[in-house]
Amino acid sequence: MLNGVMYSLRRKPGLSGASEPPAGVKHAGSYIRRRGNLPVLVVVVAIVVFAFVMYSESVKSLTEYSLARRKTEESLPVIFSSPVVEFRRQPASNRHHKADDPRRKKTRGTKKKQQRKEKKGSGKVPEVQELPITVDSTADAGVNVTVVQELPIAADNAAAAVTNVMAAKEADGGITTPSVTGEDPSVFMPDTCDLSRGDWVYDDVNYPLYREDQCEFLSTQVACLKNGRKEDMYQKWRWQPKDCSLPKFDARLLLERLRGKRLMFVGDSLNRNQWESMVCMVQSAIPPGKKGRKWDGSRIIFIAEEYNATVEFYWAPFLVESNSDDPHVHSILDRIIKADSIEKHAVHWKGVDYLVFNTYIWWMNTLEMKVLRPSARNWTEYDGIGRPQAYERVMRTWSRWLDENVDPRRTSVFFMSMSPLHSRSSDWGNPNGIKCSKETLPLTNVTGVHLGTDMRMFERAKKAAQSTSRVPIAFVDITTMSELRKDAHTSVHTTRQGAVMTAEQQANPAVYADCIHWCVPGLPDVWNQLLYAKILSAARSRSQ
Ligand SMILES: *[C@@H]1O[C@H](CO)[C@@H](O)[C@H](O)[C@H]1NC(C)=O
Ligand SMILES: *[C@@H]1O[C@H](CO)[C@@H](O)[C@H](O)[C@H]1NC(C)=O
Ligand SMILES: *[C@@H]1O[C@H](CO)[C@@H](O)[C@H](O)[C@H]1NC(C)=O
Ligand SMILES: *[C@@H]1O[C@H](CO)[C@@H](O)[C@H](O)[C@H]1NC(C)=O
Repeated sequence: MLNGVMYSLRRKPGLSGASEPPAGVKHAGSYIRRRGNLPVLVVVVAIVVFAFVMYSESVKSLTEYSLARRKTEESLPVIFSSPVVEFRRQPASNRHHKADDPRRKKTRGTKKKQQRKEKKGSGKVPEVQELPITVDSTADAGVNVTVVQELPIAADNAAAAVTNVMAAKEADGGITTPSVTGEDPSVFMPDTCDLSRGDWVYDDVNYPLYREDQCEFLSTQVACLKNGRKEDMYQKWRWQPKDCSLPKFDARLLLERLRGKRLMFVGDSLNRNQWESMVCMVQSAIPPGKKGRKWDGSRIIFIAEEYNATVEFYWAPFLVESNSDDPHVHSILDRIIKADSIEKHAVHWKGVDYLVFNTYIWWMNTLEMKVLRPSARNWTEYDGIGRPQAYERVMRTWSRWLDENVDPRRTSVFFMSMSPLHSRSSDWGNPNGIKCSKETLPLTNVTGVHLGTDMRMFERAKKAAQSTSRVPIAFVDITTMSELRKDAHTSVHTTRQGAVMTAEQQANPAVYADCIHWCVPGLPDVWNQLLYAKILSAARSRSQ
């Protein structure tokens, strides 16, 4: 039994010997070296070459795919690595690296070792389909995926079995939950605590919060162990904010908070990544047959029947209207947005109790965004507008809509900041790396490490979130913590064009590694812990 011994990256191994930190942990920092500034011309040429290579690859993939047989409803459309063009180098930030002692409770009971064996879905829940949309920034080829009605659940016959839930047996994953009906006074994050600054601490006692095979709703895209990843250290890092600790995730407490309510993630595939994680985090507290998932247009809806609660994902990669809005058939390279039109999507957000937005990755493959002219009669009449300017316009459209249409007494609004990429190992000074594919440890120090995250967009989103007069928007900074997690991407342990990567593809990470999306369980669970802290903490403030 491990009794709560934890390690920071820089700390010596503990005394129990029960869970030695992985070899090499102490040296993780040595990967880092300072990068000099490149002359502007070199950067521009690099961008052009990079973009060309990536586009060629994508186009090639598309061509190949159009010849492939039509997918059935059980299969996935396309996933590509992204033709992301870096804009500029992010200024080094002064992140601190102190490893605080965790102030957390001990876990109850023993945690089972990570198991990879297949586990069949249980009880009345039909075999789980893959998510029909598995697209990253490069988008899909013209694939039509039938909308699947997986589990027709009457979401409003709820009230009945509340007591069953309280009596439900303890999930055997890491999400141990006391039976609580009211608020947990321990879940309170003072506003003074900056959750975005902190350290990753190796913690194989409390993490992962659940295992891949315990979550029937996990898509193959993000189930990295199932797809052949050989080590699972990436699942076992706890985020230790500098001045406080994240509360332990309690699925039942969150479900109680969500009773009769809707939690909706709105945005791109990274937000879907987080949605999947959230579904896995809460589903353990719901007995078989009382939970399900269905597709409805641009939405995927996870239903917790006894709570009459839903955890939903809504596909809107730019938030505003665009030519990439079809959840299954997105346009490819020629992305065009209507920067001032949001109603088409937003009508689906009305009355939702918790709205969690993001938009980033789809902006990153060109330096200019194609913005439809107000007078345009079709998608061919657009102007190229600089990325930050176009982003600002979209964020303004978005925040204004929220301010005018959301009831702040009912609805809480969150915006998740940029999820960073780790597409060049030279960015963090590993000359022998291949994109993110060889990384098994987080960075400890991002000083001098520049991943190309466009912080201009970060600032603009933050500003938009602060610009509302009626409706508060919580800007959740996940960028800083995620930049350290070069180890946590799906890399080659994912799907491509609907199928798990072939051995040949896995052997060629330079072309195929996905260093955009994240394995689940993994980093997105921690994003959700931030969200959880904010949701429960706000609930507490209100109830006082
Ligand atoms: C997809 O389906 C729609 C409507 O069912 C159809 O109009 C369109 O041609 C289809 N696209 C492809 C690529 O099959
Ligand atoms: C279930 O929740 C929805 C909102 O998501 C609400 O409109 C409905 O009245 C609830 N039904 C019951 C039976 O509580
Ligand atoms: C789009 O509109 C322009 C100008 O009205 C017109 O010239 C062009 O043919 C239209 N394109 C399509 C595909 O309809
Ligand atoms: C982080 O890296 C920078 C640049 O390599 C170095 O100057 C700094 O001392 C490092 N900080 C820590 C806490 O190791």
